[in-house]
Amino acid sequence: MAREFTSVGVVGLGTMGAGIVEVFARNGIDVVAVEISAAAVERGRATLTGSTDRAVAKGKLAEADRDALLARVDWQVGLDALHSVDLVIEAVPEHLDLKQRIFAELDRVCKPEAILATNTSSLSVTEISVATTRPNQVIGIHFFNPAPVMKLVEVVRTVVTSADVVADVEALCERLGKVDVTISDRAGFIANALLFGYLNHAVSMFESRYATREDIDAAMKLGCGLPMGPLALMDLIGLDTAYEILDTMYRRGGRDRRHAPVPLIKQMVTAGLLGRKSGRGFYTYERPGSPVVVPDEHTPVTTGAALADGARAIAKVGIVGSGTMATGIIEVFAKAGYEVISVTRGAEKSAKVCEAVKTSLNKGVVRGKLSEEDRDAALGRVTWSATLDHLADVDLVVEAVVEELSVKKALFASLDEICKPGVVLATTTSSLPVIDVAMATQRPADVIGLHFFNPAPIMPLVEIVQTIRTSAETSATARAVCAALGKTGVVCGDRSGFIVNALLFPYLNDAVKMLEASYSTADDIDYAMKLGCGYPMGPFELLDVVGLDVSLAIQRELYLELREPGFAPAPLLEHLVTAGYLGRKSGRGFRDHTKR
Ligand SMILES: NC(=O)c1ccc[n+]([C@@H]2O[C@H](COP(=O)([O-])OP(=O)(O)OC[C@H]3O[C@@H](n4cnc5c(N)ncnc54)[C@H](O)[C@@H]3O)[C@@H](O)[C@H]2O)c1
Repeated sequence: MAREFTSVGVVGLGTMGAGIVEVFARNGIDVVAVEISAAAVERGRATLTGSTDRAVAKGKLAEADRDALLARVDWQVGLDALHSVDLVIEAVPEHLDLKQRIFAELDRVCKPEAILATNTSSLSVTEISVATTRPNQVIGIHFFNPAPVMKLVEVVRTVVTSADVVADVEALCERLGKVDVTISDRAGFIANALLFGYLNHAVSMFESRYATREDIDAAMKLGCGLPMGPLALMDLIGLDTAYEILDTMYRRGGRDRRHAPVPLIKQMVTAGLLGRKSGRGFYTYERPGSPVVVPDEHTPVTTGAALADGARAIAKVGIVGSGTMATGIIEVFAKAGYEVISVTRGAEKSAKVCEAVKTSLNKGVVRGKLSEEDRDAALGRVTWSATLDHLADVDLVVEAVVEELSVKKALFASLDEICKPGVVLATTTSSLPVIDVAMATQRPADVIGLHFFNPAPIMPLVEIVQTIRTSAETSATARAVCAALGKTGVVCGDRSGFIVNALLFPYLNDAVKMLEASYSTADDIDYAMKLGCGYPMGPFELLDVVGLDVSLAIQRELYLELREPGFAPAPLLEHLVTAGYLGRKSGRGFRDHTKR
């Protein structure tokens, strides 16, 4: 007979616990909510009231339902109050000794048939379970932050968790409206094992001043469609909690250096900068617990005038290339009012690019996003040419030719001879060092990377890549141009993968390694990232869209440049590419696309 869960206990009412209380109470289950002190109970109660009041204000919850929800919660100090609940979820700080002490105490206090669950993100559920006399009734129920919003629950069974306990907890998750993935007891389970290496890497980029906090976060939001950037997410998780999770993952997960917490995290925790909960972390918040970011001394000035400070005037832009990126970039500049000269390697290619630009602009007209006059005006601004000599008097050149260093270097050497002094020379390379093309010219200070994303007319992000020789004026010009194009330009250094690819591809590669280790299935891993972290696509969906060959090439570059052992391409990825399983474009990658 399946267990009935009519009342549950929640221990620890911090970031996670208060949200977990809400999840149960919303679904008609009585909750005994426990903390260590009356003050902590009050904090937990205030979090729940704040959250439910917001739901009422947004019209997502009726007032009467809120009142009924709040009436289901019994607020208590001390574990003794949990004597008659059917299930306890522990959500105290991520320390093994603390959790073990609490579980030993819960074992003593709770009725014999009660299930004891931990919300740990990284500790061993097995080690926690052996602090009790009922390890077969101990399980991990890992909610995601914010618990009332995120759909995923990772159910973690140890080797001794009873099958009926697992089945009953799975049924409970369904009753709570959650999607569960059931997995075994491994550091970080699915989502955190894939997430925390990425978060730590983002912090190290910030620590080394590779890019600003705003730019790192904007890059991942706009470049990958993530609901929030990694540093804002660290603030939401809590830096103390994130530190403990990383530290545990490092120790339990094979001492992967990528999980060794970046020193800055420890310093911030020591300084009391814990993220949203303390009112300050990577960002500053209106008050402790508030999600509202307020300006502080690191907030950049983004007004138009300041952006253009020191920038050169750009009116005429040359775009070299005839592929997907060049076509999109021509459209972007022409629509933004620039005079554009497109240069390809022949009249035939120019005709094709011109056709592609027209088709794309026409789509805009059909969708009502562009008037016919604006389309015609944009097209009227473009001159089609097959000779670089026509770039003699442009103010900016954007190169988008094949991704081969020798070709790009030769092109930049020619541009150096042809273009007038003061021109800004930009490359759209996504993987080659910008400094290499800069040094093919006699004017490396004028060379910069402008990494557009595909499709350029739609994607709002441009990575502005400064080399060690790029001048401040060139940089300012690039920033001003991006702003004039209506794009968000993020500035970063000249390292393999810039911001987005350097943070994205190792995570995708880790997902492949997880699949290869048979820890979980491609479907569950995709679910975990979509429903637990709000990603628009799971890693295997994305790999199939990007192309496995392209992904492997980027991952190889990262590995070669940064020499990080954890970046070594997953053998499974290599094998799939060798076998010709390249993703959607070849009909098969991680999934078979021919049947859909
Ligand atoms: N923060 C996240 O995004 C997140 C997500 C999923 C899981 N988790 C996990 O959830 C757990 C809690 O993390 P958090 O971020 O909510 O931490 P937190 O620091 O925000 O809250 C922990 C709460 O536990 C209370 N507490 C400490 N000792 C206690 C005791 N003996 N009895 C009762 N209450 C006690 C504290 O007063 C505090 O309010 C951790 O295991 C963490 O790994 C966190």
